[in-house]
Amino acid sequence: MGLLNGQICIVTGAGQGLGRAIALELSREGAIPALVDRNPETLAHVAQEIARGGGSCTQHSFDVTDYDAYARTVADLHERHGRIDTLVNNAGINPATRSILDDTLEEWRRTISINLEAVYMGSKLVAPIMATQNGGRIIHISSIQGFASSGLCGSYNAAKGALIAYTKSMAVELAPYNILVNAVAPGFMVTPMSVVNGVDETTTPEFIDWYIDKRKIPLGRSGQPEDVAGTVVFLASNYCRYMTGQLLVVDGGLMSTF
Ligand SMILES: NC(=O)c1ccc[n+]([C@@H]2O[C@H](COP(=O)([O-])OP(=O)(O)OC[C@H]3O[C@@H](n4cnc5c(N)ncnc54)[C@H](O)[C@@H]3O)[C@@H](O)[C@H]2O)c1
Repeated sequence: MGLLNGQICIVTGAGQGLGRAIALELSREGAIPALVDRNPETLAHVAQEIARGGGSCTQHSFDVTDYDAYARTVADLHERHGRIDTLVNNAGINPATRSILDDTLEEWRRTISINLEAVYMGSKLVAPIMATQNGGRIIHISSIQGFASSGLCGSYNAAKGALIAYTKSMAVELAPYNILVNAVAPGFMVTPMSVVNGVDETTTPEFIDWYIDKRKIPLGRSGQPEDVAGTVVFLASNYCRYMTGQLLVVDGGLMSTF
């Protein structure tokens, strides 16, 4: 449709799952995604998919917690294109299985470093460029676990909750520069992340019974990555222009039930 023709959109964690779908959808709308992931093989695969669809993109393989590598990439992109329109802070990990009674400080720090600190770093690197060009979009991928808990993965939930607060803070700070900052909170999505200890949590009999058959998810299905990608396209596009500091919940209605 061309909602984002020629726009330079950085997507972190673009090698699979939500990031892959976001990059593909941005490309379908005419954007030139800058694909970031620590896994060069999956990045190359997504780049091929974009090329097959007639789009173009760039590939940048590094760990988002590596500030110097991140800074080099942003500087290269700025030099090459002269602008950066959107940053999608999507890369994340979910250690999932442990409570505060048996997790470790090391796990806590690793999760906070990828899911929260790297978001700060990427945002800090692109914000001055966006301020100079008087416009930009920063989109954080949070989670419904940022405001409700399944009872495990406290470090993940703490990081995702902090992202919701930080969205508001950044939105206020950056509004004078016409930089809109919003967040998306996906519910249960079918991605490689939903596979915990070798089991896809969205396909177990317990999940199907409670969330699908009994309609704990009112729309009666798990989310597909494309469901989030469309929301991100909206937030990056000019259809979103008087909205900043907001959290869009993409969960099939799950958080509307009790
Ligand atoms: N899958 C879900 O149900 C769900 C629900 C809510 C929120 N989310 C959030 O959506 C985002 C994407 O999740 P997903 O399900 O696609 O996950 P995923 O595990 O399928 O993909 C994550 C991608 O990020 C990359 N990545 C991870 N750490 C990185 C790092 N330090 N540096 C560079 N790349 C890194 C991985 O290589 C991978 O390609 C995450 O922030 C996640 O917390 C997912």
